[in-house]
Amino acid sequence: MSTFQAPKGTYDLIPPRSAKFLAVREAISAPLKNSGYGYIETPGFENVELFARGVGESTDIVSKEMYAFETKGGTKLALRPEGTASVLRAALEANLHKAGNLPVKLWYSGSYYRYERPQAGRYRHFSQVGAEAIGAEDPALDAELIILADQAYRTLGLREFRILLNSLGDKECRPVYRDALQGFLRELDLDEDTRRRIEINPLRVLDDKRADVQKQLVGAPMLRDYLCDACKAYHEEVRELLTAAGVAFEDDEKLVRGLDYYTRTTFEFVHDGLGSQSAVGGGGRYDGLSEMIGGPELPSVGWALGVDRTVLALEAEGIELELPASTSVFAVPLGEEARRVLFGIVTELRREGIATDFAFGGRGLKGAMKSANRSGARYTIVAGERDLGEGVVQIKNMESGEQSAVALGLVVEELRSRLSS
Ligand code: HAM
Repeated sequence: MSTFQAPKGTYDLIPPRSAKFLAVREAISAPLKNSGYGYIETPGFENVELFARGVGESTDIVSKEMYAFETKGGTKLALRPEGTASVLRAALEANLHKAGNLPVKLWYSGSYYRYERPQAGRYRHFSQVGAEAIGAEDPALDAELIILADQAYRTLGLREFRILLNSLGDKECRPVYRDALQGFLRELDLDEDTRRRIEINPLRVLDDKRADVQKQLVGAPMLRDYLCDACKAYHEEVRELLTAAGVAFEDDEKLVRGLDYYTRTTFEFVHDGLGSQSAVGGGGRYDGLSEMIGGPELPSVGWALGVDRTVLALEAEGIELELPASTSVFAVPLGEEARRVLFGIVTELRREGIATDFAFGGRGLKGAMKSANRSGARYTIVAGERDLGEGVVQIKNMESGEQSAVALGLVVEELRSRLSS
């Protein structure tokens, strides 16, 4: 161990577990790439104001959890706590919405930072794969995104997840509901912090996990009863499209999410094997966000799935991904001359696209064979002075233990044909 450790709330991804993270990122992004989403990458930090305005000043994410700092030049920046505001900022900056091709569909993958209290499944540095469809109001787009996330999770083999679905209304009906809810909440016996929340973000109070608060919330006005006709019809169509696609969901009228930009459709993917940090992914429609950050009206929808929690969900369900062994062939040279010759063959095999590794460091046969075993390679090539004298190397099938001599010039060809059978 060195003097240093990974900072609190972070961890390192190391082999072999790190392979699962790559596989999860691949599984989540594959259906997006296959559905017209283009890849976008934005900086790891942004002007702090983007998140304050976008995610919302009153949210925990902005008010308590943001890694905000001032640069030597006096600019106020923040490590990104989420991806949506940045992606929309970048799309607007590049005028993607003006190219006459709406919606602009983008996907991303990266690191996000929140100064949260660390616990199982909750970290200060975590990883998301996300998708945003910018500039179209169409229930089929909301449905598409939910269907693609569902497909990603099913491809990974996950079964114990549920989709919670709600509508948060729009700028017509939500303010009316907000007033009614505030009126109800102000009459309750609540602590100072919660009373403040009533004035800033009353919907979040419904999300309070404390039993004594939940008890008082019985009979609170529900948004469902306040949705305007347009929101109701929109939501109904999203539900119908999901049902037609065979994607099961649960209506959850208490689902409010922790970011302020949502309108209409909101959803969360929860996994039942994860304890308190059960949300593996979430998202929704954010029709007003573009205007909040100084852009034109651009109704949009998106989600982000947490890679860390998705890996935990796989482990909770005991799912072993079928990851191909990273190495197909392992070369073990015995002696100086063999080292040069085999290293040449290794280079050739790699250029042929065959995953190959080499026993570095001049270790003895025993140690080298141990490495060969550990690598998961199907074949080991071994050569000593005598083999080279005869112009051959030994190819060992690691599963059966069979070994045969193959002429030096034919090794690559022979391995290629054996590996493809
Ligand atoms: P979010 O619900 O804040 O949404 O985060 C999405 C997912 O990121 C969560 O469901 C969770 O899996 C993961 N996540 C969040 N915080 C942590 C943490 N501290 N540790 C580990 N995993 C975490 C958003 O970020 C929105 N930008 C989603 C979105 C996209 N909405 C519209 N478009």
